[in-house]
Amino acid sequence: MILRSSALSSIPFLLLVLCQSALADDFDCKPSLEGSHYDFTSLGNGEHVVNRTRETPPTQIIDSLAFDLCGDLKTKEGVKDHDQCPSGTRVCLTQVNIKENELERVISVIPLAQSSKLNPELTVSPKSPRHLNLTFHGPEYPQSPAQSLGAPLAQSFKLTLWCDPQIESPNITITGYDGSQLHLEYHGAAGCPLAGSPNPDEGKKPEDGKEPEPVGSGLGWFFMLFLLAFIAYFGIGAYYNYSTYGARGMDLIPHRDFWQEVPYMLKDVISHMCSSARPRRSSRGGYIAV
Ligand SMILES: *[C@@H]1O[C@H](CO)[C@@H](O)[C@H](O)[C@H]1NC(C)=O
Ligand SMILES: *[C@@H]1O[C@H](CO)[C@@H](O)[C@H](O)[C@H]1NC(C)=O
Ligand SMILES: *[C@@H]1O[C@H](CO)[C@@H](O)[C@H](O)[C@H]1NC(C)=O
Repeated sequence: MILRSSALSSIPFLLLVLCQSALADDFDCKPSLEGSHYDFTSLGNGEHVVNRTRETPPTQIIDSLAFDLCGDLKTKEGVKDHDQCPSGTRVCLTQVNIKENELERVISVIPLAQSSKLNPELTVSPKSPRHLNLTFHGPEYPQSPAQSLGAPLAQSFKLTLWCDPQIESPNITITGYDGSQLHLEYHGAAGCPLAGSPNPDEGKKPEDGKEPEPVGSGLGWFFMLFLLAFIAYFGIGAYYNYSTYGARGMDLIPHRDFWQEVPYMLKDVISHMCSSARPRRSSRGGYIAV
């Protein structure tokens, strides 16, 4: 844990260009990216609908987007097949035309993302894990053979998520559709990294404050215990010598013979190391022993 978070906090986030990960085709709705974990199940497990109305006098067009990030949309009973997306669709855009005193008419049905072509891409902002883009892919529209003037365009769905834990009911808005990619913007809690993910915005300060502590205090404790053991050794040893032999002065030192030897032993070791590091000098002056 310590290693992981310190390694992460030392990553120069700003140098990381957009970190992109191609997720498995089977998008599991709980992706992990750059050590942050997300849960998109509140945008799945059933159909979510976002509408947008455009004034196109003398009519109105309602862009109705239905999506389920975690699974396929269910086909609706009582709606004609050509008025809804085929099975296997995860994101479906339906455009409905409304004219006063007339029946509303479905003018286009566009599968923006299908499970078989999903190819999900998730990118997280290099500055903050609280800003994400998720892109799903779909088939071309209109399906060939082309009936329209332009060539069929590959469709995709781009969802931009902004973490906003305060918002009670998330704000989801269609911000654009250029005939190929629909852009949906989301503000809410699903854009927030889950607890346990490193969070440069909020978690950095406490993490940085805590990190060096375990290492420093661990070493500190080690030396403290070592010192205490040493003091206890001399204290108890001296008391033992005093009470058992009535020792005084230098004689109080436990294992005195050993401790008196220590300086000589050190001297021996050092002189041995020095002599083996240098060429040996002959005792008979001037000649190198061969
Ligand atoms: C969105 O628009 C569709 C098509 O007009 C309509 O049936 C549906 O009730 C609308 N849903 C919402 C949430 O406004
Ligand atoms: C998401 O896409 C928009 C353009 O649609 C771009 O401006 C933004 O930088 C992207 N953000 C991330 C985190 O990839
Ligand atoms: C929802 O988001 C859109 C665009 O991001 C903004 O214009 C609108 O005011 C927001 N609505 C609410 C209720 O926060």
